[in-house]
Amino acid sequence: LSLECSMTRSETDEVGGVLLPKSVCDRWDQIWNFRARPDDLLITTYAKAGTTWIQEIVDMIQHDGDIEKCKRATTYLRHPFIEITTKYFAGLELAEAMPSPRTLKTHLPVQLVPPSFWEQECKVMRGRWVRLVSRLLLKSRGPSSLNFIQSQIVLWGCWYDHVKGWWDAKENHCILYLFYEDLKEDPKREIQKVLQFLEKDLENEVLDKIIHHTTFEIMKDNPMANYTFQPPAVMDHSISPFMRKGTVGDWKNHFTMAQNEKFDDDYRKKMSRTSLTFRMEL
Ligand code: A3P
Repeated sequence: LSLECSMTRSETDEVGGVLLPKSVCDRWDQIWNFRARPDDLLITTYAKAGTTWIQEIVDMIQHDGDIEKCKRATTYLRHPFIEITTKYFAGLELAEAMPSPRTLKTHLPVQLVPPSFWEQECKVMRGRWVRLVSRLLLKSRGPSSLNFIQSQIVLWGCWYDHVKGWWDAKENHCILYLFYEDLKEDPKREIQKVLQFLEKDLENEVLDKIIHHTTFEIMKDNPMANYTFQPPAVMDHSISPFMRKGTVGDWKNHFTMAQNEKFDDDYRKKMSRTSLTFRMEL
């Protein structure tokens, strides 16, 4: 999202040491006091992690594979992005006006998630994916991109803290932690995990339909899922189409050998004390 990757310093601010769009900080009290409902489902990812893909899968599951129903509105209207307000939409208000059961989206790190989600014991789906490396590289700032990934000064906070924070939180909360690489490798297996988590049972035929409808090729041409409805000020497809490549391991086409070594080194250090591991390729 241009929203996420190309803001100037004056368009950002911090909450609890985490860099966020200024519009988020300006409404922080309201966001922090957001009232979750017990049957809310919260989809939480680091930006560019494949959020939209899992949103489409969840929507298809919730609507028993009914494609027309899933085309009722664009992704950002179907699943309010709770912390984001633009001049075109306000996630908070959309969420508040939405009847239950709601599916909501956030990129907030775990410590900044409105506490009422925990109080209400909502279900949370967490995606964490290594391929954001390639995405951030392409969408951000060329040669300095590696620093960008390693940095604390990125929107929604440092990627390492983000993924580890949510990883630890799953010990105490109802969180399904999914991996882009796994979904890419075996969508059926992973969608079955989602079904189980959502306590849904679907016919095999419907499951196959969901898999098909949520492939990269189909979603790429679905205006309700490919963000072409977003105004260019929010999502500028001329910089890079939102549905760019949808593959694992594209970093190889963008990292130099030296950058890769530097990344591996940094990764080893920052991930040394967690059981969380990433597959860099399939
Ligand atoms: P690429 O830029 O690598 O292609 P988010 O929704 O969190 O912003 O993530 C966007 C990324 O998810 C993009 O990655 C996009 O192509 C990828 N994506 C979206 N739908 C997908 C699908 N059905 N299959 C695989 N990747 C998908």
